[in-house]
Amino acid sequence: MSAQETPNSANSADPVDYHATSEPRVALVTGGSRGIGRETVSRLAADRFAVVIGYAGNRELAEAAAKEVTADGGRAIAVQADVADEQEIAALFATAESEFGGVDVVVHAAGRVHLAPVAELDLAELDALHRTNIRGTFVVAQQAARRIRDGGTLVTFSTSVVGLAFPGYGAYSASKGAVEALTLILARELRGRNITVNAVAPGPTATDLFLDGKDEQTIARLAAQPPLERLATPADIAEVVAFLASPAGHWVNGQVVRANGGIV
Ligand SMILES: NC(=O)c1ccc[n+]([C@@H]2O[C@H](COP(=O)([O-])OP(=O)(O)OC[C@H]3O[C@@H](n4cnc5c(N)ncnc54)[C@H](OP(=O)(O)O)[C@@H]3O)[C@@H](O)[C@H]2O)c1
Repeated sequence: MSAQETPNSANSADPVDYHATSEPRVALVTGGSRGIGRETVSRLAADRFAVVIGYAGNRELAEAAAKEVTADGGRAIAVQADVADEQEIAALFATAESEFGGVDVVVHAAGRVHLAPVAELDLAELDALHRTNIRGTFVVAQQAARRIRDGGTLVTFSTSVVGLAFPGYGAYSASKGAVEALTLILARELRGRNITVNAVAPGPTATDLFLDGKDEQTIARLAAQPPLERLATPADIAEVVAFLASPAGHWVNGQVVRANGGIV
């Protein structure tokens, strides 16, 4: 077999041996102050990532998350940055680089929801969803595409509602449809860099975003829908993210991963 035919001959697409280096890899998590992002911070820190925790307004929660990681012997900092503001997000990535030496994994968990039938939709809410969920994803993805080190990963968030099509979710689902549409295109644009791009699309997950404004009956009805008969916990979803960010998950690329207990 010639060198060219050798399956493991060195080229830029070779798998990265993360275990060969003792330097911790660096993860940047938007929406790291609460919910799925918060749990992802802990989960990636347990995998020895240094973590940059992005948040919008909940400084105390974000700093408490960083403190918890450092108390366990890890490295983490909390940095305020609005995901839709390109200057703030560029500064967030710059802080990750100056504090920890680079960025390997970006988990873009920041997001918002608004529920209303289309006939009653306040268009200002549509604009706000568009700004955070679509513009925010493009702003973060743009910096990620420019700055993630070779061998790294971008994980964004959609929702299983894109497939479930629940009435009232039109504006939110449309904003996440844009995230799904971007996923494979960006994965292809990053050809040659050994960087994966995937979207995780959870079903109902017990966080503020899901629970706020819902009565117990609605929550129980939605919790009963998946064959696994419960809401997801943030930890269920953080495990999926940790897999995608790990060497074991690196062959998954350009995918929308519907992590929802089998609801669809
Ligand atoms: N929970 C579910 O059932 C579910 C289902 C499907 C998909 N998802 C998606 O999963 C992701 C995480 O959701 P979650 O349930 O964990 O939400 P969550 O508990 O409401 O947390 C939202 C996080 O996003 C941050 N954030 C919101 N707007 C931001 C902005 N403009 N700039 C920066 N950060 C911002 C918040 O920061 P502050 O704390 O500072 O406000 C917070 O950390 C979202 O993209 C959501 O759409 C959730």
